[in-house]
Amino acid sequence: MQNNKEIRKHILHYYKLNKRKLPWREIGNKLQNPYYTLVAEIMLQQTRVDTVKSYYIKFLSKWPSIKLLSQAKQSEVLTFWSGLGYYRRAVNLHKAAKLIVKNHEGIVPDEYLKLKKLPGIGEYTASAIIGFAYGKYSIIIDTNIKKFLSRVYGLSGEQISSKKKMYELAINLFPKKKSGDFAQAVMDYASN
Ligand code: ADE
Repeated sequence: MQNNKEIRKHILHYYKLNKRKLPWREIGNKLQNPYYTLVAEIMLQQTRVDTVKSYYIKFLSKWPSIKLLSQAKQSEVLTFWSGLGYYRRAVNLHKAAKLIVKNHEGIVPDEYLKLKKLPGIGEYTASAIIGFAYGKYSIIIDTNIKKFLSRVYGLSGEQISSKKKMYELAINLFPKKKSGDFAQAVMDYASN
């Protein structure tokens, strides 16, 4: 088995050459906006990347800010969501927008515990927002990252379902700097 340093190098090299062009990664001349990350990561929880792309763009042209989303009617958000399915995500996203406007001055929190308190934001989404949107150190584990860790470290049976084991491996593997980029690099690598 390769050591972690080599694995990191391999993954980052792969990402440099093959990074997928995805709308939520496009920063262009705009500042990255944690609201965008929230929307993308909620959509990506249960929907494939290819489907999310167009919904993500349409959603943000309809509700370009969290304030505007918080003022929308729930029925409007649900109508929009048809095609994505798992409507509870839409209900929760809308509720989260209202709470963020009410309690956090319209700014998506950058702290794990505050994020976790919001409806629809679990461990994955909270850590994704911290790592992707705020560029802070964060251990981000989704299904693809789990799959990757299982393969690389030859996990089997109980180990695969052990959250503790996954975190232990990820903590040793993820770089301290740009851990969000690294997580997205693994997602791309493991998506093939
Ligand atoms: N799946 C969940 N989040 C993702 C992201 N930011 N990029 C690619 N795939 C993802």
